[in-house]
Amino acid sequence: MNIGIAGTGRMGSAIAARLIGLGHALTVWNRSPEKTKAAVAAGAALAASPSELATRAEVIITILTNAAAIDAVYYGEQGLLAGEVKGKLFIEMSTVRPETERALAEWVAKKHAQLVECPVGGTVGPAKEGKLFGLVGAEPQALERAQPLLAQLCRRIEHVGPVGAGAAMKLAINLPLIVFWQAFGEAVSLTKPLGMDPARLIEIFSDTSGAATVLKNRGAAVAKALAGEDTGPAAFDLDAMRKDLRTMLEEADSLGLELPTAARVLDVFDHAAHAGHGGIDGVRIPAWVSGQA
Ligand SMILES: NC(=O)c1ccc[n+]([C@@H]2O[C@H](COP(=O)([O-])OP(=O)(O)OC[C@H]3O[C@@H](n4cnc5c(N)ncnc54)[C@H](OP(=O)(O)O)[C@@H]3O)[C@@H](O)[C@H]2O)c1
Repeated sequence: MNIGIAGTGRMGSAIAARLIGLGHALTVWNRSPEKTKAAVAAGAALAASPSELATRAEVIITILTNAAAIDAVYYGEQGLLAGEVKGKLFIEMSTVRPETERALAEWVAKKHAQLVECPVGGTVGPAKEGKLFGLVGAEPQALERAQPLLAQLCRRIEHVGPVGAGAAMKLAINLPLIVFWQAFGEAVSLTKPLGMDPARLIEIFSDTSGAATVLKNRGAAVAKALAGEDTGPAAFDLDAMRKDLRTMLEEADSLGLELPTAARVLDVFDHAAHAGHGGIDGVRIPAWVSGQA
């Protein structure tokens, strides 16, 4: 099957590596061409525009920053929907608002193609290993078509409703995750007078109800950050978390809801970003919050 990926950022590149590793024929496109180099070196073909990519591929995957990126990549003059897309399948994996996905599904249907919305839980590592958690919003028949490919990318696929439902679930899941990084940093501050070894602190926390699952998965990296060690390139950074928090707050506003904790964490993260910390990974946030970075 010829698969296209429009958007080879961190997640798109990891998914590309996974699909090439499984032997799929892949075509890639990215706004900044240098980010396609790794996929092309691994065997992917390069498309000159999103429309060319959509014309070449049978299934098109997108995983992009936000609604503005979706606008540019799908609806632009040389966008995906300007290609020959009749009968094709789009799998949209970005973390955006439900209305963005619903509007896109309508446009895709007008072009006689199908859309499966599948935002994902899990970061670059799980994406490379095919161990994402796919939160699908789709018509059952469209999902049936996407299922074999999604099964190669995800350890678990949950069909949570029609298009838009996946986005709602993804935003909801990221709220406690993002707040946790800030809360855990505050908790670490309280333990500073104990002078405890970071690895031991993480190990104790991870065996209690005070820890989120992410600490069990990423605890070793958090301990490294607390010890002042390098944790490698950022996968889910503070700027991406700010984007998610803003998206949650916009969504809550449209539903007549308030999210006071998310709003407060966004304030704190905005200050951090303005002080030059927007690129730090989540695993470094506790060290930064507790003054150990
Ligand atoms: N990183 C994670 O751990 C993670 C996990 C789950 C879900 N997600 C979600 O997955 C999506 C991608 O995340 P990522 O970490 O891969 O981000 P990233 O590395 O910053 O990549 C973002 C991608 O969007 C493209 N893009 C942004 N604005 C654009 C525009 N106006 N026109 C065309 N292309 C545009 C970028 O192109 P350029 O290279 O040209 O900028 C790049 O391909 C986001 O919605 C994020 O919330 C991320």
